[in-house]
Amino acid sequence: RNTIGRLLELIKSCNGELVALTGAGISADSGIPTFRGKDGLWNKYRPEELATPEAFRKDPVLVWEWYAWRMNLVFNAKPNDAHIALALLERKGLLKAVVTQNVDNLHERAGSKNVVHLHGRIDEVRCTECGRVERLNKAPETIPPVCDCGALMRPNVVWFGEPLPVDALNLAVELCSQNSVIVIGTSAVVYPAAQLPYYAKNAGNTVVEVNPEITPLTDLADLSIRQRAGEAFRQIRAILEAGDSP
Ligand code: APR
Repeated sequence: RNTIGRLLELIKSCNGELVALTGAGISADSGIPTFRGKDGLWNKYRPEELATPEAFRKDPVLVWEWYAWRMNLVFNAKPNDAHIALALLERKGLLKAVVTQNVDNLHERAGSKNVVHLHGRIDEVRCTECGRVERLNKAPETIPPVCDCGALMRPNVVWFGEPLPVDALNLAVELCSQNSVIVIGTSAVVYPAAQLPYYAKNAGNTVVEVNPEITPLTDLADLSIRQRAGEAFRQIRAILEAGDSP
């Protein structure tokens, strides 16, 4: 209880100069598998076979079957208390933005307006030739989907070996350099996203972590809460919805 009280006090003390950096762990309580650790996707599948440009070139159908499966998981999932609490904090002027490594759309569906996707979005497809991007609300009927221009369409996500969208990364660096950061549900091993909390720390801002496990960020954090995000933010959401003044 007092840990959650401290977390809410820390959040409020930032007076809105706060951004959230989220990873797969925040969607774990919505039933979406994480990548590393127990039951992680990378324990079952080899990323080189499914999440690289070479894999897509070699076998676009295999890659699309895996993404269609993941798209259905996302479309059938619901935002959990952590996603909803972050949207509430934004509405109350206590959170500026969510910078997410996740490709799911649960932050948007929870009501967050300011979401920066560092690794793209699984509910979007992009033409490999003309670059047209289309947002979907269900997995494509036929895979691989073909663009009006005749070329293959790919998931609009960042694969291993590919650069991050430069505007998203620049905005994320700016946000994390100028605000405190609450890091939720990331193993903090994939760069450049894992670098972002250090920008906040180097600028003298506060870093908070919510993760049931220890991570490389745990020592850097001013407060590290060893809890599942859904649990920690269920309490935060209840306090905020009880009309607790910001
Ligand atoms: N609440 C909070 N954190 C959780 C929960 C939970 N309920 N369940 C698991 N976690 C934590 C794990 O302890 C782990 O530290 O979430 C983290 C998930 O780590 P990863 O699976 O590595 O996910 P992430 O850090 O987002 O991966 C980064 O790697 O594969 C690429 O592009 C992919 O965006 C992904 C990137």
